[in-house]
Amino acid sequence: MTIRNFEQDQFVETLQSKLSVRSPVKSIERLFGRDKELELVEEALFDEGGHVFIYGDRGVGKSSLAASVAAQYQSSDNEPIQIPCGKDTCFYKTIEEVAERILRRAGGRRDLEFTHTVNLKLYKLQVKDTERSISIPNIDSMFSAVDVLEEVVRVHSDRPIVVIDEFDQIESAAERAKFAHFLKDLGDRGVNVKFIFTGIASSLYQLLGDHESSFRQLFTLKLERLYWSYREDIAYSAIKAFGLEVDEEIVHSISRISNGFPYFVHLLTQNLLWAVFKDEQEVRRIERAHFDSAIKRSIVGISGRLQKPYDSAVLHKNHDYLLALWATADSEDTVRYSDNIFKSYLRINRQIFGVEPSDAEKPLEPAQFKKILKKFLSKDYGEVLELVEGREHMYSYRENLLRGFVALKAQEAGLELQGDTPDEPRIPTAMAKSRFSGAPGRLSVYASDPSKHVKFRSER
Ligand SMILES: Nc1ncnc2c1ncn2[C@@H]1O[C@H](COP(=O)(O)OP(=O)(O)OP(=O)(O)O)[C@@H](O)[C@H]1O
Ligand SMILES: [Mg+2]
Repeated sequence: MTIRNFEQDQFVETLQSKLSVRSPVKSIERLFGRDKELELVEEALFDEGGHVFIYGDRGVGKSSLAASVAAQYQSSDNEPIQIPCGKDTCFYKTIEEVAERILRRAGGRRDLEFTHTVNLKLYKLQVKDTERSISIPNIDSMFSAVDVLEEVVRVHSDRPIVVIDEFDQIESAAERAKFAHFLKDLGDRGVNVKFIFTGIASSLYQLLGDHESSFRQLFTLKLERLYWSYREDIAYSAIKAFGLEVDEEIVHSISRISNGFPYFVHLLTQNLLWAVFKDEQEVRRIERAHFDSAIKRSIVGISGRLQKPYDSAVLHKNHDYLLALWATADSEDTVRYSDNIFKSYLRINRQIFGVEPSDAEKPLEPAQFKKILKKFLSKDYGEVLELVEGREHMYSYRENLLRGFVALKAQEAGLELQGDTPDEPRIPTAMAKSRFSGAPGRLSVYASDPSKHVKFRSER
């Protein structure tokens, strides 16, 4: 026992009650820093015929917000319906699935009898007292989809809500457009059901193409990264549950590395607590050594898919490639100009080799450095970066999970990246001011809605 009063079972139970690395948060009690968003979404849902689309970068917390808000909105006589999407998701099948789920679950109720004839794909629900029966035929038209849903949501609950998660995964634009039509028809018929969609999308237009206007009922919310203090709150809340004290610099480091993606806060905090639990000495205050161990554990835990592109970018190459890669993750900004990445590279080079480096350690000239950055775009170098909107000097990570992995690897090597410092704006001050991102004390180089830089999962 290395945390006072905690045996392993209890340790795991407490950990699980505070952190969920692999799954979305499902209740507002565990959702940090989204009060404003919760309020906006909730208000939108209470609008007649109003539905919601939550979009944003990968891992920013879309599913968590959707699940939590759905749990709030859903009346207590049932649970929200969760539908995950895949690349082959087809609209009619999805509605059939929603209907089937509702009926199956309702089948457990005493006043209902559920029968399912597999061959005919016919589901039947007999409401015993009233002798009303609902059968679900094959859904093959918009009309039948609306009809069926109208029937089944009555069985579901007083205030039913459906979450269509990872909508961007659906490859076919035609299938996505059917959802748009569907919402419109639901609204026209006044059907009592709400939909929340989540997805990585650059714009509503990209999501729905020419059918965008039929999505008038949709309230769209671009979910931003989590602000600093909330990242810390997640970590502190878990640490305090074990009655532990912590060096605040450690919590700062966790927040910095996470870059506002709560996934990394959960991952690092969880590994930090495991490191403490496995310490042979009884621990009351979490120290740097625990944090170092948490970094190593986190890297091992997520290296499976991420190690390969990382190695492609830096392995068997001179050290400038490694430093250049670290430099790409050395800012709060996720979309960066090559000039600013170069500044990071100079800073890192100085930190590692000092102010008087030997000839072999001297930093590259800007032109040479930019050649390396360009290589990071190619397959041979792991395709770690991509150009933003095809602009030659503007880079972002292809995947922010990889950005986090790079920050962890740098940290493991003893280099703390500046994940809390935004780049200097490269645009005139007046314009920069007008594009103030909204975060306290921070200027963003980008317009307040950088969504056009976000891509569909299936896009390259
Ligand atoms: N507001 C929050 N407070 C605390 N933890 C959060 C919050 N939002 C998300 N998380 C945690 O962050 C991780 C990622 O969240 P989530 O799965 O909701 O993101 P996502 O945007 O849906 O990701 P993806 O794009 O991969 O679908 C999960 O571990 C979740 O528990
Ligand atoms: Mg999700």
